[in-house]
Amino acid sequence: MQSVKNPILSIKITDSEFLKFKDLIYKTTGIELKSNKHNLIESRLMKRLRDRNIDNYSDYFQLILKDEKELQVMINQVTTNETSFFRENKHFDYLVRKILPDIKERLKIWSAASSIGVEAYTIAMVVDEALSPRHMPFEILASDINIDVLQQAKEAIYDIRFAKNIPMNYLKNYCLKGVGDMENKFAINDKLKQRLSFAQINLTKPISPDAGMFDIIFLRNVLIYFDIETKKDVVKYVLQHLKVGGYFFIGHSETLFNISDEVVQVMPTVYKKV
Ligand SMILES: C[S@@+](CC[C@H](N)C(=O)[O-])C[C@H]1O[C@@H](n2cnc3c(N)ncnc32)[C@H](O)[C@@H]1O
Repeated sequence: MQSVKNPILSIKITDSEFLKFKDLIYKTTGIELKSNKHNLIESRLMKRLRDRNIDNYSDYFQLILKDEKELQVMINQVTTNETSFFRENKHFDYLVRKILPDIKERLKIWSAASSIGVEAYTIAMVVDEALSPRHMPFEILASDINIDVLQQAKEAIYDIRFAKNIPMNYLKNYCLKGVGDMENKFAINDKLKQRLSFAQINLTKPISPDAGMFDIIFLRNVLIYFDIETKKDVVKYVLQHLKVGGYFFIGHSETLFNISDEVVQVMPTVYKKV
């Protein structure tokens, strides 16, 4: 008779198993797990172990080592993707008041750890509103290491709770309320969606020149997951894609102090490449 595993019993990770995952996650994503984050690994990976009918983390680790797709699944599980529309709104104010009025040619913007895309769509809304009347074209690249969140960004369908931070005029102009089965959801309209392109980019590795050069880069709320050496590398790789005179935004709890002197601060968390 086949044994049925009890879904209520948790699968505990041992200290040595945890260290192996911690090391692999650091090497593949740059994310530095604190030494007491056993629970985080258990809560994010246990369901996957059950789905694969695996009852210990050592066997799952072996599977990851020989199966690249499973490694990606693991990466998707361990990244933290918290985000919201109009997060840290002062950045978008700055964009509208100080940057967009001076734009004279096609604008290229990169949302470099875009999670489910709401940062990129927020940028698209404010930029479209400012530049469309001037018939000024723009494009936005949204990238992340996690391919699940990138897929959601491409679909651009969100739970209605995400709408609460979107000002009414943007909701009216760029969002479509779901009906029927989609009643609790809303979608970004096609006019905005077509401004975006998507790519999987691991920011801890040198970034292909094919990614292009940008006038503005948002790298918000991702440096916090990295140690100082990784932060330096990531900022260096990303800034190679910022044009001279371009703007660089980081998250409100992040700083470039001791990380980079390639850019100068124009206000807290906003920098310019000189
Ligand atoms: C907390 S979210 C931030 C989303 C958005 N920038 C914001 O501020 O709302 C961090 C994102 O960084 C991504 N990330 C983590 N490590 C990464 C890496 N090495 N390369 C690219 N993206 C990474 C995660 O998948 C996650 O979606």
